[in-house]
Amino acid sequence: MSRLIVVSNRVASITEGKSSAGGLVVGVLDALREMGGIWLGWNGEIETEPVQLPITHSDKNIDFVTVALTQREYDQYYRGFSNGVLWPTFHYRIDLSRYIRRDYTGYRAVNRRFAQLLTSSVKSDDIIWVHDYHLIPFGQACRGLGIKNKIGFFLHIPFPSPSVLRTIPSHRELVESMCAYDLVGFQTQGDVQAFIDYATRYLDATLNGNTLKMGERSIKVGAYPIGIQPDQIKELSKESRYSKPLDALKEGLQHRKLIVSVDRLDYSKGLVERFDAFECLLEGSPQHRGKVTLVQIAPPSRQDVQGYRQIRRQLESTAGRINGKWTELSWTPIRYMNRSYERTLLMSFFRVSQVGLVTPLRDGMNLVAKEYVASQPANDPGVLVLSEFAGAAAEMQQGALMVNPYDVQGMADGLDRALNMPLEERKQRYEHMMGVLKKNNLSVWRDRFLNDLSP
Ligand code: G6P
Repeated sequence: MSRLIVVSNRVASITEGKSSAGGLVVGVLDALREMGGIWLGWNGEIETEPVQLPITHSDKNIDFVTVALTQREYDQYYRGFSNGVLWPTFHYRIDLSRYIRRDYTGYRAVNRRFAQLLTSSVKSDDIIWVHDYHLIPFGQACRGLGIKNKIGFFLHIPFPSPSVLRTIPSHRELVESMCAYDLVGFQTQGDVQAFIDYATRYLDATLNGNTLKMGERSIKVGAYPIGIQPDQIKELSKESRYSKPLDALKEGLQHRKLIVSVDRLDYSKGLVERFDAFECLLEGSPQHRGKVTLVQIAPPSRQDVQGYRQIRRQLESTAGRINGKWTELSWTPIRYMNRSYERTLLMSFFRVSQVGLVTPLRDGMNLVAKEYVASQPANDPGVLVLSEFAGAAAEMQQGALMVNPYDVQGMADGLDRALNMPLEERKQRYEHMMGVLKKNNLSVWRDRFLNDLSP
């Protein structure tokens, strides 16, 4: 049987406990354990020495091969091009994109460096699975080094429409480099279509079924919406039911209704609009004043990128303004927290809430939306209020209350409807979404991708 080689910017730590690790990490680790193989990427550290040797740890059938980045590599590859250009542009925020040619050069160089790390350990029938926007040219770098293995790429974030993509000066080279893969997977059919539109229009590729032909190369493309492990999430959500933090949350709520949101502090998540919508609800529906609390958990992320510092300041002032206006002696409308919690705790917060509010302006998938649903008690489930611009919308739109995150009043109406929804309707919607989550679970995602890569 072939071994699996997983390549991603961040590599799961082998000490990561199952309860704190994200679903994706668990899913990929399981596949690696089963097939045996390597997980290669950045170890999260910055080192001053120019040349670092990779560090290899072996654990139960898996070799973890990781390297530190130099300060320059970090600045150009991670902070500069990946998070200063690709992330904003792929999330349709070209106003936040800062293209600097040497960052792009550094981005390609790190991709080549990672590819070089593979050359000594790759065997001829290994299957290589590359993840996310940091590593778009990785496959091409491998081909340049003579690696002929099957290589698949999965993009976890949205793929933008060609007119937006073309704002990145090196767009052509970037997309051309994706054609070095044997399979390119996206979260939704919309992303697949955007990629095909670009390739057929600007690269003279032709489409035959689900295969793009470009000169001598054939590239399979498809939508592989990432899933979760709903049964495990359900168990997790019950694990912390008698914990101190959950007690503290309930104590603070004093039997009020709870709307809960959990996001990395990112401008793509629509947090300002969400706070505005909550205020709009208080403004327009006085019966909710003093009766409902929004808990927003938003751990800071990528704080050395300007757009992130900006959104953080903006949120602080929005939350401060709304709380300043509406807070009473015994009630704070928005509890805004810049910290993270253990996954088991998050799932237990979801379980006791009445509404899960997930309103990104753009999102590849958004696993929080799925985890929220899987955490609900079947006999009294909460309601998912979901943005139509989350990848998850494609699968969840029949069960969730769909909203447009640019429509503040519409989101307030959605919240009002969710808070008043009768039990029967909540159960029906929940059952529907659970059906989808079980059918398209994490192993289905992984197996479909791997089977299509190496039939
Ligand atoms: C998103 C990306 C991941 C990334 C994660 C955390 O989910 O798709 O590739 O690892 O954000 O961001 P960070 O920059 O801290 O790795």
